Amino acid sequence: MAGDYVVGCKHCEEAFVKASFAVDDFEIIDLTPSPASTIEDKEWWRRYLEEGYNLLLEGPPGEGKSRMAYQIADQLVSEGWEAIYIDGGPHVGAKDLLGGVSIRGGSTTYRPGLLLKAFMQAEKGQKVVVVIDELPRIPVREQGILVASLFPKWIGGKRVFTLSVPELGRTFFAPAENLWFIATGNLGEGYVNSALSDKALEERFASETIKMSLNQVQTLLTELVVKRGFSPSLAQKLVKVREKMEKAYAEGAVATFLSYRQLERAVKLARKEEEVPQLLVKYYSRDIEERAVLEKALQGVFT
Ligand SMILES: Nc1ncnc2c1ncn2[C@@H]1O[C@H](COP(=O)(O)OP(=O)(O)OP(=O)(O)O)[C@@H](O)[C@H]1O
Ligand SMILES: [Mg+2]
Repeated sequence: MAGDYVVGCKHCEEAFVKASFAVDDFEIIDLTPSPASTIEDKEWWRRYLEEGYNLLLEGPPGEGKSRMAYQIADQLVSEGWEAIYIDGGPHVGAKDLLGGVSIRGGSTTYRPGLLLKAFMQAEKGQKVVVVIDELPRIPVREQGILVASLFPKWIGGKRVFTLSVPELGRTFFAPAENLWFIATGNLGEGYVNSALSDKALEERFASETIKMSLNQVQTLLTELVVKRGFSPSLAQKLVKVREKMEKAYAEGAVATFLSYRQLERAVKLARKEEEVPQLLVKYYSRDIEERAVLEKALQGVFT
């Protein structure tokens, strides 16, 4: 039996330890977005699904939007849904969404794109969640395809999504309850490709701002510093720094949000605890004035 080999196999055990570490790393710790952080409900996102609104997770970089989108999809997959993932970016073309003709061994076949696959599955009765990471980075033309297909229409007394595929000369109809779209993006001023192609696409989503609460940052950092063998007080200090920088950001003193990703990176890459503050400055921003604000915040907390 395969299991027999695992017992007493040192490498297997090591591999298992590594694997479980990775699994730990992806544990859902808190899926509550900060504006609603007082809400106990960890499955806050379910009302968007139940009310039939596509969900757009927006907010500053490095605060967990993508991870949250994937975790929500994971949860649905565990309930029998299928998940389809689209990585947004300038490389996304109509062919990636709708598909195209391909020639294989002399015969031509139509290979459906990711969006069409979702529709075909949903048409058949399968529930499908489509995760579109970095939606605003998708080119305007392809955003146009989404505008057309992401809003349910009433046809024959039923709510359906429709997708027209000109190359096939066919429109696909998917019952609205079988399809759900979750997207992520940094919207607003100061972000590259920060715009959705038009207001209509924005309206196809209900949006939720994702920014970790101080509590959540505290929980995650504490776990991280303990894993690294650093003292738990380091996490507390970093939370204070984050708090100060949040204030500086709100007041407009800095344009760069001190993200959870930056905090995480400094803790993970420091060879010793004392290195964390300087690494944080290093990874925070290229702007000298912004760095000075962070240095001041660090001095106030670390001395
Ligand atoms: N719940 C969580 N538990 C542990 N780590 C988390 C959690 N959420 C986010 N992180 C970590 O924070 C970092 C940023 O997360 P993520 O990439 O999802 O952010 P994002 O908002 O999508 O950023 P971007 O706007 O740059 O795409 C990652 O290293 C991720 O692993
Ligand atoms: Mg992301």
